[in-house]
Amino acid sequence: MRLLSGRRGWVVLRYAEGRQLLTDRRISKDLARPDFPALVPAPVDDGSESIFQDGEFISMDPPQHTFYRRMLISEFSVRRVDQMRPRILGIVDSTIDTMLSGKPAGDLVEKFGLPVPSMVVCQLLGVPYADHGLFNELTWRMARITTDVAEGTAAIAELREYLEGLVTRSEREPGDDLIGRLVRSRRATGELSHEALTGMVALLLFAGYETVANMIPLGVLTLLRQPATLAELRADPGLWPRAVEELLRYHSVVDWAAGDRMALEDIEVAGQVIRAGDAVVVLNAAVNRDERFFERPDEFDIHRPSNQHLAFGYGVHQCIGHNLARAELQIAYRRLFERLPDLRITADVDDLNAKYDGSIFGLYDLPVAW
Ligand code: HEM
Repeated sequence: MRLLSGRRGWVVLRYAEGRQLLTDRRISKDLARPDFPALVPAPVDDGSESIFQDGEFISMDPPQHTFYRRMLISEFSVRRVDQMRPRILGIVDSTIDTMLSGKPAGDLVEKFGLPVPSMVVCQLLGVPYADHGLFNELTWRMARITTDVAEGTAAIAELREYLEGLVTRSEREPGDDLIGRLVRSRRATGELSHEALTGMVALLLFAGYETVANMIPLGVLTLLRQPATLAELRADPGLWPRAVEELLRYHSVVDWAAGDRMALEDIEVAGQVIRAGDAVVVLNAAVNRDERFFERPDEFDIHRPSNQHLAFGYGVHQCIGHNLARAELQIAYRRLFERLPDLRITADVDDLNAKYDGSIFGLYDLPVAW
């Protein structure tokens, strides 16, 4: 492909080559490199403030990337996420209670898809209860960035400011939450600066909110259109983890969004030579439907014998929050279909507004009744 800047880039559509390149140390994600071939040109930098924030390790290479990432590994372990499950269930149930207390119809994105992951992030970061309303409103405004760029950008700035305040408060009085633990273990030793901790926290919000928020309605839509599968899941809830894996593969909501990469050296792959300096984008949505790897890739089938999808990426940048994302989705779908047995779509599926223009795929709205 050609980038807007005229630079050359490669779009990787096949599973084997995608996986190979995602683990190749000659590929960089360091967006701060002056020669980085960004897919979307960055806003003009007037030198007053860097657009790259300290601590946002998704756009760094090892060893800098490793330095930050390893501080968070234990926060997202299976054990830690299992401890969070009861609270996630509480969030999901109270969101459904609110739906049940009002009119039995509305937009599932607004009523359920957006609030659930926003509240989970509140729990994760230790946002005080009194601020939940404000936090929810800001994340909701941020999610509308594609429809209203000015509004979304303003919300992102406000969220950064809010998170900075949260870090400052925690530095004074660390609580028993992710920020508090990092303050005690890493700020106290001087390993982590105030700015870097704020950047890490902001990354967790930006990476962990809209991804889940988009998966929820897409999954609900898919399952409502597969009544036999849904009946099976209702009869055997032990199948939910499989269903979630298949939904992740099938929709692959993080496509090119987190994917800007650059070749540091010439790399030969599939008989082509990617030249040093070329951009490389592994398209997860294509890779996860590669018929050389997945049988009947366009079919939604929760009984695939093996489902080694790359919806969470692969290699050093593989999603650090995958255990949490899986728990959120398993609980959200299961409870929604258990508690709203008459859930149905009230719009013509062909008329739904999909985020073809968003950086993460999803639905703008999903009109439903219950
Ligand atoms: C990275 C997908 C949920 C935090 C990634 C990457 C993908 C991804 C594909 C790799 C990006 C790359 O290689 O360039 C998803 C999907 C999610 C999800 C599909 C939900 C369905 C979450 C959650 C969190 C999170 C819940 C945390 C709260 C992160 C972080 C990174 C990341 C911090 C950067 C990792 C690194 O660079 O080392 N995610 N994610 N994600 N994700 Fe997720």
